[in-house]
Amino acid sequence: MRIFRFNEIDSTNTFLKNLKEKENYDIAIAKTQTLGRGRRGNKWFSEEGGAYFSFLLKEDKNIAFEEYTKLSLVIGYSLMKTLEKIEPQLEFMFKWTNDIYLFDKKLSGILIEKIGEYFVIGIGINLNNEIKKDVENIAISMGKITLKKYKVEEIIISIVENMKKDLHFYFNGNWEIILSDLNKKNYLYEKNIKISFENGEEKKGIGLNIHRSGELRVKIGGKDEFFNIGEIHISKN
Ligand code: BTN
Repeated sequence: MRIFRFNEIDSTNTFLKNLKEKENYDIAIAKTQTLGRGRRGNKWFSEEGGAYFSFLLKEDKNIAFEEYTKLSLVIGYSLMKTLEKIEPQLEFMFKWTNDIYLFDKKLSGILIEKIGEYFVIGIGINLNNEIKKDVENIAISMGKITLKKYKVEEIIISIVENMKKDLHFYFNGNWEIILSDLNKKNYLYEKNIKISFENGEEKKGIGLNIHRSGELRVKIGGKDEFFNIGEIHISKN
């Protein structure tokens, strides 16, 4: 495991993707990113003070590939657990598929990409950074709530270490325990939500539990439907 540190970089995900000789659990950390990327082609604002990092996870060929379909949920679970240890008095919520919410606003996002036999797991957390005016109504920074100044690198290392342990726990057959914790913190539960499909279609419904398949159960017109990770975008109705 190596740590690559940057004051400024385009994107820590892009850096690890392009790294020639990759090693499991290599980490890239940046103070700021000029081209921070979010899911669905969104930009991830990376103002100084936040945690912006990525790490590599090597696919284990002895594990069935379908086990990896829940990777984003396991990563989200692990991140939430570490944040809970840092600030036990705060109520972090898990927004399926892998965002962490605090006071109804986004605190952290995760972008997982695959290159060859590696997953690049990129995480952005608003810690000491300011939130830009134009996203103030949807994003939140932890330091603004607690009025603390966090030691960003220390937090990043403990997140990655805990993820290593939690991934081990997951691959050793403990999905049901993780799932039950995620459902206790399921931000979308009983919320009116809008589901947008890539082809532009939209459906409105009420968010229910995360199913053991990793899918989200949604009540639509009196009937339960299940939605796959990656297939949809969810917003408040
Ligand atoms: C999202 O919520 O859309 C995912 C945001 C992921 C942002 C992180 S910051 C570190 C890493 N590098 C990137 O370019 N993106 C991820």
